[in-house]
Amino acid sequence: MAAKNRYKSLELETPGVYELEGLEVGVTSNCNYKCDYCCAYNRDDGECISAQEVIRIISELPRLKRVRLSGGEVTLKYQDCLDIVTYCAAHGIDTQLNTNATLLTGERIHALRDAGLSNIHISFNYTEPDAYAAYYRVHPRMYGRLEQNIRLCTEAGLETVLETLLFEGTQANMRAISEKVYDMGVRIHEIQNSIVMPHSNWSQITPKESLVRSVTELITHKKPDTTLYFTCMDRFADQLGFREEPGVYFSNCVDGTKQLHLHGNGDILICELCHPVVIGNIYQGTSLKDIYANQPRALSDFLEKLPCPAYDALFPNEQNA
Ligand SMILES: C[S@@+](CC[C@H](N)C(=O)[O-])C[C@H]1O[C@@H](n2cnc3c(N)ncnc32)[C@H](O)[C@@H]1O
Ligand code: SF4
Ligand code: SF4
Repeated sequence: MAAKNRYKSLELETPGVYELEGLEVGVTSNCNYKCDYCCAYNRDDGECISAQEVIRIISELPRLKRVRLSGGEVTLKYQDCLDIVTYCAAHGIDTQLNTNATLLTGERIHALRDAGLSNIHISFNYTEPDAYAAYYRVHPRMYGRLEQNIRLCTEAGLETVLETLLFEGTQANMRAISEKVYDMGVRIHEIQNSIVMPHSNWSQITPKESLVRSVTELITHKKPDTTLYFTCMDRFADQLGFREEPGVYFSNCVDGTKQLHLHGNGDILICELCHPVVIGNIYQGTSLKDIYANQPRALSDFLEKLPCPAYDALFPNEQNA
């Protein structure tokens, strides 16, 4: 049986205790891709935050357990990422780098590993170069680069998580994607439920029946040495008859309750993915250290209601659980 992933253990703890234990940092919001589904907050607005500044902020958060570097495409600021990972590793803080993997190289992968990166988390939605190229509007050779970098990550012994967005474009191909993930040597597959994007009107999310079919199929065919994490499904997993078992987890959402997002301009957001509400700014008097003690109005409203767009999309006529 596969061992649990340390970075992800925060999502497997009992929810209900509100404390800043995870920070997602938008090191840069710029990106070399323009995915239709993209949830990045103010993507390509040019806002960046330096490693030195991130380290200063983190050093004031003694209860922090993990830092996720996400944007944008944070490998555009590779050296900053490396410096943040190095600092975190030296201070017992787990790190995850979320990337489309197109700007990685063998040298960068080895350096990130040696710096102590806990997880490299790579988006992986297609099994063929042409389909990938058509969807992302890039040259098919970019798929070769993606595949090569994934293989380099596993060969380097980096804990590699491939994330597949379960949406209209992948729902019929999930089994093949899962087999390809395995074939590339990756043993952790995260299935991210798709969330509607009001800012771009993107709404190609998976309908309930298709979601049930895909999740059931993936669990049925799971190989014993792999781990599946299903994210943004915890609010309705029971209702749809999903059950955890060894190697199958419906991660508890921590966004807004244990984890916040820090944008390059200092804005603090509840959740970049589904609740991009600015609750303060570190350069305008908001202290991340005391944010759950002081609770800005937007944060206490959120904690009172705990809205979940993933739940609302699948159960539009019911009250949020
Ligand atoms: C905003 S991206 C940033 C990291 C990197 N650029 C990438 O794409 O992997 C972070 C993650 O958000 C996920 N994501 C983007 N849009 C989404 C949506 N509409 N619903 C759910 N997840 C989404 C992507 O699959 C990706 O893994
Ligand atoms: S690669 Fe990531 S940040 Fe860039 S457009 Fe796609 S989802 Fe958004
Ligand atoms: S609140 Fe947002 S991040 Fe959390 S499970 Fe729902 S959609 Fe996902």
